[in-house]
Amino acid sequence: MTSTALPKSSVSSSVQHPLDPLFPEELAIAVETVKQQQNLGNSVRFGSVTLHEPSKVVVKSFKPGDPIRREAFAILLDNATGKTYEAIVSITEKTVVSYTHIPDVQPSIMLDEFVECEEAVKASPEFRAALEKRGITDIDLVMIDPWSAGNFDKEDEKGLRLSRAFCWIRSDSNDNGYARPIEGVVPVVDLNKMEVIRVEDYGIVPLPPQSGNYERDYIPKFRDDLKPLDIVQPDGPSFEVNGHKVYWQKWHFRIGFNPREGLVLYDIGYEDEGKIRPIIYRASLAEMVVPYNVSGATPSNHFRKNAFDVGEYGIGMLANSLSLGCDCLGVIRYFDAYLTNSTGEVATIENAICMHEEDFGILWKHMDWRTENTEVRRSRRLVVSFIATVGNYEYGFYWYFYQDGNIQFEVKLTGIVNTAAIAPNQDPEFGVLLAPGLVGHVHQHMFNVRLDMTVDGDQNSVSEVNTEAIPLGPKNPYGNACQVTSTVLKTEQEAQRIVDPFKARYWKIENPSITNAVGKPVGYKLMPSDTVLPFAHPEAKVYQRATFMTKNLWVTPYSSEEKYPAGNYPNQHPGGDGLPKWTEGDRAIENTDVVVWYTFGQHHIPRPEDWPVMPVSYTGFLLKPNGFFKQNPAMDLPPSQKNGHCHS
Ligand code: NI
Repeated sequence: MTSTALPKSSVSSSVQHPLDPLFPEELAIAVETVKQQQNLGNSVRFGSVTLHEPSKVVVKSFKPGDPIRREAFAILLDNATGKTYEAIVSITEKTVVSYTHIPDVQPSIMLDEFVECEEAVKASPEFRAALEKRGITDIDLVMIDPWSAGNFDKEDEKGLRLSRAFCWIRSDSNDNGYARPIEGVVPVVDLNKMEVIRVEDYGIVPLPPQSGNYERDYIPKFRDDLKPLDIVQPDGPSFEVNGHKVYWQKWHFRIGFNPREGLVLYDIGYEDEGKIRPIIYRASLAEMVVPYNVSGATPSNHFRKNAFDVGEYGIGMLANSLSLGCDCLGVIRYFDAYLTNSTGEVATIENAICMHEEDFGILWKHMDWRTENTEVRRSRRLVVSFIATVGNYEYGFYWYFYQDGNIQFEVKLTGIVNTAAIAPNQDPEFGVLLAPGLVGHVHQHMFNVRLDMTVDGDQNSVSEVNTEAIPLGPKNPYGNACQVTSTVLKTEQEAQRIVDPFKARYWKIENPSITNAVGKPVGYKLMPSDTVLPFAHPEAKVYQRATFMTKNLWVTPYSSEEKYPAGNYPNQHPGGDGLPKWTEGDRAIENTDVVVWYTFGQHHIPRPEDWPVMPVSYTGFLLKPNGFFKQNPAMDLPPSQKNGHCHS
């Protein structure tokens, strides 16, 4: 038996909980209601339609069977006027609750705009002339990736909805076009008019000579020494699902999904001595940005590359439909995602979220060396994941739950690195040669995860823990002693912190009102892993637009309005919105309902081995119980029995 997919509960199953994502029929009602009651014409696009999340009070007082009022939140763009609107629609009452013009913002770039932008560029005579100069005649083989334009304080860009595209050429319809950048040609597109404003031309660079094909038909010979490795779960998985609620051993949580953040987890708790103890109210990838480090001194478009894949594109919009036995192995429970396209039609991404169990080596072990009695337990983790394709790149987002109370978030980076062409025999200044004439520029992938913490209740405090050697002297006569200091972060600005591996720095989220078996506050600790800070100066636009990436830790008091660390509308935004703006007031964060924003990043100096498709690179962080439990909570795990192995 190989991998198996479990049946999904039927789509028509009614709403069970206020945090259930909107079902297709609810999305349709929301779209129809706003179209009719606001008299919307064809020039209005739906950027996104998603659940308008009810307040915490509503969620916490909810009992199964209670009536549920459902609301949708929609972002709309009128291409005729360039104006953006936010709508709140009551699905229950089929009425528009509010319809508000949001001045001077650009909603994220929609999938339909990707397709239309490519068509518009291909139809442009100016673009065709630029291709002709380069000897490119077959327009069907040209690929246009409509990148966000960013904001560089250019007068002629103000108020326009722009994309500045990058172009490549395939040699046949399945060829990997990213092997051959059409260097120097930058179509600038007004997305409202879907018109090419101009085509910038920075000079001809020859196409790189080699192909970079990775599809199976191009691989001349597969290695033939790989024997099957199947995951067999004859009695099924150890989790249960009821609607969007998941039970796995002692873990409880709810699954959500939205077009902007993709997977969202709610109400994460662990059952301890018969009681479900809350840990996180809501957890999501709230923003990410990929700043490239190409100098603007060289004429090209590459200095502008700063993709905010959550806020500028919608990472949920770009989610893959996952395949059994490929993306996940074992007994899988998939969840579909329901979205809308820009005309408001409901679109389903089947199998967008994958949930399954993985063996994860050993969890704990000891051999009593006198008796040789051995106790060892296997570790198993529950994995909830989705994968998004953002143009050339793939990001896999994985939440792991462990039997010892650990929660891990991991990003798997793969796909194709963004490429540029360089003249033969030249060495790139801001990148690395991936293949002859083909460059991968240096960049970082910066992620911010929003953790609305609720460790044994809403009132939490955050502390920083540092370890330092005690100076030689009477307190440390042999020079070996160190001291661990824990400092409560009292205000938002005190809580803007960066990692320090030389002090083994971590942060604790504690409930000061609830003490554990040794009289200390119960808590979880946030363990950073390898990370990076941006290499941009404070004067750089990307620094101002993505200030969240300049600190690893931010803490704010909960506000339902504060969801996205680079602001609600990062596309073409001049900067300063989100975390830097909210935390100017330096609000108190001690013993209150806190939100922890953790930024982590990966520095990417590409390698030839990242070409043509990059092997997965991993980054993330860990939340570990820290005096939350009385002792190792996995002592009650039974020893493995089957298959005749592992008996003492
Ligand atoms: Ni990268």
